[in-house]
Amino acid sequence: MEKRQIKEKIYWLGAIDWDRRLFDSLIPLPDGTSYNAYLIKGSEKTALLDTVDPPMEDTLMDQLRGVEKIDYIISHHAEQDHSGTISRVLEKFPGAKVVVTPKAKGMLMDLLRLDEDVFSPAEDGDVLSLGDKTVKFIHTPWVHWPETMVTYLEEDRILFSCDFFGSHIATSDLFVTDPGRVYEAAKRYFAEIMMPFGKVIAKNLEKLKPYDIDMIAPSHGQIYDQPGWIMDAYDQWVNGAPKNLVVLPFVSMHGSTRQMVDHLASALTDQGVRVELFNLPVTDIGKLAMSLVDAATIVVGTPTVLAGPHPMAAYAAFLANALRPKAKFLSIIGSYGWGGKTVETLASMTGNLKVEIIDPVLCKGLASESDFKALDDMAAAIAKKHKDLDLT
Ligand code: FEO
Repeated sequence: MEKRQIKEKIYWLGAIDWDRRLFDSLIPLPDGTSYNAYLIKGSEKTALLDTVDPPMEDTLMDQLRGVEKIDYIISHHAEQDHSGTISRVLEKFPGAKVVVTPKAKGMLMDLLRLDEDVFSPAEDGDVLSLGDKTVKFIHTPWVHWPETMVTYLEEDRILFSCDFFGSHIATSDLFVTDPGRVYEAAKRYFAEIMMPFGKVIAKNLEKLKPYDIDMIAPSHGQIYDQPGWIMDAYDQWVNGAPKNLVVLPFVSMHGSTRQMVDHLASALTDQGVRVELFNLPVTDIGKLAMSLVDAATIVVGTPTVLAGPHPMAAYAAFLANALRPKAKFLSIIGSYGWGGKTVETLASMTGNLKVEIIDPVLCKGLASESDFKALDDMAAAIAKKHKDLDLT
């Protein structure tokens, strides 16, 4: 695909990765992704904003055919899906300066083995004139690495946000055409990438408030030409109260734990609490992460195997602990054969979660009437806690 004009003298470049199905060898990409770069041709200087993932570098280099000079390569983020083609661009434009946060300079020297003298570090708030275009650098640390920044193009009121507000979607549409689809993808992206840094992202959102933003051009997914809704969505995800929702990741080996999960789900529904079940051996981990953005309560369902939780339940607990969702309550349900340390092991894996523990319900073999009653009591307790917090 050739470069595409966004506004006068401003172009989208980049690569659409229709086939990619996994990021970081971890994150499912059901809709592929894109690596967006941008070119700003000022009356005096030309800047390239970010590059592409190295396997797709030829696409970017083809798009740069006919571009006579690049004075600056603005690198918002050192992760290689955006920085990885900088060396190739420097080979073609050897005089270009790589504009980065001071922290990113060291990271790119480590990650790409670039020489120190190619860099031109930008402090927070620094302004760079391209002639009739002016870019301002806004440091936005931990979105989602420590070195990240965004760039505001003053004359056109465009925010080049890199991963911030991004979404993993492969599409030939340059701008958002289906906000519902992009909301879903952006929420998945937030859940998997940004949620662990919710508090600092809230500060960065606040930092962007004084800017008059007509357009947000991220480095993954489509460009927002009506950016208000995605900024509001981020505000809700990081600042909003959790919802009257239980997320229930579970695994069952012979059906006993599944029976308990289904009973609890039914009891919660009867109590007016929404519930989302994720059968871990077949679930899309991204969907589970999205549910964690909203849920007020997490209940892990697991049998006891080899004296502890099933490894898939341990994985879900590890993931939830790493993603640091805003859940307020946590519990465990499941069946065991003769004993074990399931509760102790899962509790030891979830130290990052600022949650109140609701008494677990573990039963020996198939659940009995008293076990089902205990699950009913758990559902009632969760409903009361959600109601006391006025969750909707
Ligand atoms: Fe899209 Fe953090 O890289």
